[in-house]
Amino acid sequence: MSALLAIDDLSVEFHERGELTNRPLRGVSLEIAPGEILGVVGETGCGKSLTGLATLGLLPSGARPSGRIVVDGQEQRLGEPSPLRGTAISIVFQNPGTAFNPVFTLGAQMDDVLLRHRGLDKKERRARVLHYLEQVGLPDPERVYRSYAHELSGGMLQRAMIAMALVCEPRLLILDEPTTALDVTVAKQILDLVLSLRDRFGFGVMLITHNLGVVREVCDRVAVLYAGRVIETGATAQVLSDPRHPYTRGLMNALPARHRQGSGWRRSPGRCPRAWSGSPAAPSPSGARWRSTRARPRIRCRARCPGIPGTPRPAS
Ligand SMILES: Nc1ncnc2c1ncn2[C@@H]1O[C@H](COP(=O)(O)OP(=O)(O)OP(=O)(O)O)[C@@H](O)[C@H]1O
Ligand SMILES: [Mg+2]
Repeated sequence: MSALLAIDDLSVEFHERGELTNRPLRGVSLEIAPGEILGVVGETGCGKSLTGLATLGLLPSGARPSGRIVVDGQEQRLGEPSPLRGTAISIVFQNPGTAFNPVFTLGAQMDDVLLRHRGLDKKERRARVLHYLEQVGLPDPERVYRSYAHELSGGMLQRAMIAMALVCEPRLLILDEPTTALDVTVAKQILDLVLSLRDRFGFGVMLITHNLGVVREVCDRVAVLYAGRVIETGATAQVLSDPRHPYTRGLMNALPARHRQGSGWRRSPGRCPRAWSGSPAAPSPSGARWRSTRARPRIRCRARCPGIPGTPRPAS
């Protein structure tokens, strides 16, 4: 089956006053098939949101992307807002509390999305908004339609965000940390909702998270990001049962369930390094990338970012 989303060798650089200041994505490649949920996982700052934003051409100003992104057979013009946003692709941004405009009702904002992207009259738009508010399990869609963001709980807001993403009936849905701000019970409800909506509507999902537990719950495949590159990818069951990269193993050891099972919770020592910083003349951190978070780096880790046995190493 041909890919719904194909990202090939995506890199992003930031420049200030003509100087290269940061290179947070360094050759990310991943694919999502129609109806598939791909988890993009990694710790803070590794480039998860930038990957999602680049797919829509919504990178922050100053960003210079390179590589290739093809959505539904259409090559995207990197660095420009995608014409597929609001039609074939929808995104739920990382923080639902600030994603809605506080001075407009949720109904007005969802109506506006439909007005911009679909040629429906007012009555049809209202009916469709109410339909999707109901589809995401909000108990009183009419009331939610008339509400402002501050009147809803975190879980309700997340559902409303998902409804807003669904009104244009996308083929690809990008969910950026959809459960991070929620308590465990509500988070579980949101993940169940994502699964049931995918089964009902058949869209592909890029589910961005720092939590492997979330990946285990809902994702068909997973791409593990580390310092701006995919260091491991595969079917969720395979990656979680037999992680091939030491960083993936480190993430798994950080799962609270492991701690409860008695295998011991271990935090990866050190911090995830910035993917790149310094002047253009400075060398890129080919060797230090993985080593600085390891307690006892292996010899090959000193040399360069380790690959997975049997796969070609990424270029530094
Ligand atoms: N506007 C910007 N200018 C310069 N660098 C930026 C900018 N936005 C992001 N970055 C860099 O990109 C890196 C990756 O950012 P991104 O938001 O994709 O991280 P993330 O993996 O989503 O993290 P989190 O889990 O905290 O949301 C950041 O660490 C930062 O170094
Ligand atoms: Mg993010």
